[in-house]
Formats: sequence, structure tokens, C-alpha cells
Amino acid sequence: MSDIDATQQFYTRWAKAYDRLATAPGIRSWRERLVETLSLSPGDTVVEMGCGTGANFPHLRRAVGPAGEVVGIDLVPAMLGGAQQRVAQAGWENVHVCRADATQPPIEEADAVISTFVVGMLQNPSAAVETWLDLLPPGGRLAIMMAGRSDRALAAPMNALFRLFVRFSSPGGRFSRESPAEALDTRWRDARDRLATETTAFEQERMGFGFIRSACGRVPE
Ligand SMILES: C[S@@+](CC[C@H](N)C(=O)[O-])C[C@H]1O[C@@H](n2cnc3c(N)ncnc32)[C@H](O)[C@@H]1O
Repeated sequence: MSDIDATQQFYTRWAKAYDRLATAPGIRSWRERLVETLSLSPGDTVVEMGCGTGANFPHLRRAVGPAGEVVGIDLVPAMLGGAQQRVAQAGWENVHVCRADATQPPIEEADAVISTFVVGMLQNPSAAVETWLDLLPPGGRLAIMMAGRSDRALAAPMNALFRLFVRFSSPGGRFSRESPAEALDTRWRDARDRLATETTAFEQERMGFGFIRSACGRVPE
């Protein structure tokens, strides 16, 4: 089964449960922090790659205001259904969703791009980062976030639990011969290193006892 088929199958089944996890209070604070690093201004257009059920939308919409625009792209209709419901309930007229492959986004330009908990699922995260940066003008920002094993000494015993969590919560993870947690680390490094090389004002941060990594950079002026 291809990565895309596994993703479709997995998130079609788990969309509702995913939304509850995605909006839990601790996770919400990591999202707020990442959106802050994008330094969005009222009126900006921001695109979210792999938006899922739209858990970042409230933070993005608040930052761009009613004059800006938020566009969420995802492959899986069940996840986009949750995102659409969130938009309708909030009455946001400037938040749109679109079903597409985030590695080939049907978008021409944006002031900023964000992607949370997605780069670890892509076959070629570095190429995706390159594609996303190509949508941005000089000064445009890209921010990414992903979970991974913690390198903090006190969190070491929790890494075993994390490995189990990743095996059972990633598309195809249960049947994978390689360790899904190691694959996440490799894919994160691949995406982060490309972002660091191609941007200025690159910043990275660890949150959630070191289990959450984020990075943000600006297209050189
Ligand atoms: C772990 S969820 C993250 C959702 C959301 N970004 C969040 O932070 O809650 C991963 C999402 O990425 C989407 N996804 C994975 N690969 C994709 C691709 N190539 N194009 C578009 N969406 C993709 C999945 O459908 C899923 O909704």
C-alpha cells in the first residue's frame, strides 16, 4: 500500500478521535506558540499544508484577522469535513479548505505556510519544504512542527511509550518493519535541515518535554 493510500485509510477511520486529541489544551499551546513564530499580520494569507480537522485554524484566523485569508489543504475528506465544520461553526468567511496533495499544492502564492505533524508522513520532506518555500515572496515565512523522541534525560523512560504511540498512531505504523519513531526523526531532520539551509532568521525550539520540535525560517529578502 502506498503512503497516500495508508494515510487516506487511517485518517478516514480516526478523524473524529484525532480531532479530540488535536485540540487538547497542552497541544493547543504548542500550536499557539508556532503561529506566533510566523509573525503573521492582519491581512496576510497563510496556507496550512495537511490541515487535518483545522485545529490550527482558530490561531491562524486570529492572527490574520477578518481581512486576511487562511487556506487549509489536506488529502482526506473525513479530516476536511471536520475542518469545514469548525469553519462553519465559527462563521469564518475567510477560511477555506481544499482537497489536494500538500506536496503538489494548487496554490500560487502566500505570505506564510505552516504545517504541523505532517512532514514525518511524507516520503520526501525536504522536497516538500522546497515546494512550500517556492510559494513565498522574499520575507515570507514557513513554520513546521512534528513530534519525535525526546533527548532530555528525564524523558528517557517515556521514549518507549512514545515509540508505541507512534507505531499505533501512524498510518501503516503497526505493520512497518522499520521503527516508525526512527523514521519520524529522519524525516524531521530532512525537513528541518532544508528549512535551515534555505532560509534566514531560522529558529528551532523543543516543547512538551522535548517530544515536540518546531522550526521556522524566512525566505531571504
Ligand atoms: C497528524 S495529522 C495533522 C493534522 C493537522 N496539521 C494538525 O496539526 O492537527 C496529519 C494530516 O496530514 C494529512 N496528510 C498527510 N499527507 C498528506 C499529503 N501528502 N497531502 C495532504 N495532506 C496530507 C493527513 O490527511 C492528516 O490530516
